[in-house]
Amino acid sequence: MHAVVLVGGFGTRLRPLTFSTPKPLLPIANVRQLEHLIAALGTAGVTEVVLAIGFKPQPFLDAFPDGVCAGVALHYAVEPEPLDTAGAIAFAARHAGISDTFIVMNGDILCDVDLTALVAFHKAHDAEGTLHLTPVDDPSQYGVVEIDADGWVQRFVEKPQPGETSSNVVNAGTYVLEPAVLDRIPENQKMSIERVVFPAMVADSRLAAMATDDYWIDTGRPDTYLQANLDLIDGSRSRILSSVGVNAHVAASASITHSVIGDNCVVEDGCVVSDSVLLPGAHIGARVRLERSLVMGSVGDGASLVDCVVGLDGHVSPNASLVGVKVPDPSEVAN
Ligand code: GTP
Repeated sequence: MHAVVLVGGFGTRLRPLTFSTPKPLLPIANVRQLEHLIAALGTAGVTEVVLAIGFKPQPFLDAFPDGVCAGVALHYAVEPEPLDTAGAIAFAARHAGISDTFIVMNGDILCDVDLTALVAFHKAHDAEGTLHLTPVDDPSQYGVVEIDADGWVQRFVEKPQPGETSSNVVNAGTYVLEPAVLDRIPENQKMSIERVVFPAMVADSRLAAMATDDYWIDTGRPDTYLQANLDLIDGSRSRILSSVGVNAHVAASASITHSVIGDNCVVEDGCVVSDSVLLPGAHIGARVRLERSLVMGSVGDGASLVDCVVGLDGHVSPNASLVGVKVPDPSEVAN
């Protein structure tokens, strides 16, 4: 079976980290997000993953030079220009010659849904497409999906007002699709699958949906990206990964609590690091205090960072005291 993984977004909300690394290639507990995702697809019997790349293919080619990720063969489909979600799925599927039932996944989610069960649900319904749904605490921030007792989608309610719907399940970013869906998407045209194609399928009563309450997180924001990392080291999930990467140098006098230290990081004497993620190659000077922060670049001696994001080109001055700051400030960086 084929899967299309959407990796062509701009990752705006995770800037400045995504200035240097596309979101799906950022590590989650020292393993690239894409590897987590493709490993799950491989377990469900996917033998070829088509990466739908909207722009900048090189980082993906460099990351997997032999064209294999987590034991699964990769096929690269680079759009002439970013085609939005439906345009990207159709471009990728045509590029790879997909002619049978296939899975689609957003490249910025992590979840434990049983993909084999999702495909079985889709086939049992003889649906044209099947969505995976997940419950959320505050539906007012999302596009909520209403389904009937048989598992068919009835309607989408975008950012519902209180009382507008009794549903609290949202599109979780994984789909099973029949190739017939491609007939709804013109070639090389920008189109959203969520806003255009799925509503058309609902109108034809051809879109099913399966809700599960397994672990699920959209890693696209700094707070959720941080959370996804910590969930994999502290036992919140069924798997526990190592919190320290290879060739990391952590001074014996540094205190590290509930944090991920990436490959080739340096943490000098007397640092106090908690609930934070150091990305590969980060350099943390002596006596630095880091709390709930993401660091790719360098932090000078004696600095204090709370709720901060430091990109690859970010250099925090010695003794700086920053709260809720992005370094460099994405709004001041030319793309
Ligand atoms: P933000 O800029 O922070 O909103 O991130 P994003 O654009 O990466 O994420 P969004 O949630 O809007 O996109 C959902 C999924 O679709 C992500 O996995 C994106 O990588 C992917 N995606 C969005 N637009 C495109 C596109 O034009 N082409 C391709 N190939 N993928 C896309």
